[in-house]
Amino acid sequence: MVTFESLISRKSKVVVVGLGYVGLPLAVHLSKHFEVVGYDLKADRIKELETGYDRTLEISKEDLIKAKIFFTSDPKTLSSCSLIIVAVPTPIDEHRIPALTTMP
Ligand SMILES: NC(=O)c1ccc[n+]([C@@H]2O[C@H](COP(=O)([O-])OP(=O)(O)OC[C@H]3O[C@@H](n4cnc5c(N)ncnc54)[C@H](O)[C@@H]3O)[C@@H](O)[C@H]2O)c1
Repeated sequence: MVTFESLISRKSKVVVVGLGYVGLPLAVHLSKHFEVVGYDLKADRIKELETGYDRTLEISKEDLIKAKIFFTSDPKTLSSCSLIIVAVPTPIDEHRIPALTTMP
């Protein structure tokens, strides 16, 4: 079981899944206190973030480079993380209403 002590001592890792408008700023803030992995499906997004470029313009180059986040698009990395925070888009139906049922 993951504990706050294991997170704050950086023995356990947090992963933020989905590095968009919500996930990236969250990952940057969490990285000030915890060991953070940033995972996104898009390899291009990961490459940009590694160079300090955030196309959403939420995080400055300076802050992004300062943040100690391990960016990856390799899903295997998730298995080394104890806490998973999901920040991926919410699916919507034809009326643009969030589709909160389980996927088929
Ligand atoms: N943006 C907002 O102001 C806002 C406000 C409140 C709630 N939300 C909610 O937060 C969530 C994220 O929104 P956002 O605006 O950050 O979205 P976004 O489109 O900016 O970013 C989503 C990111 O997730 C990645 N992604 C998609 N599927 C993935 C998967 N299966 N695995 C890994 N990465 C994946 C995409 O490549 C993208 O980089 C949504 O559920 C949204 O409804 C957003």
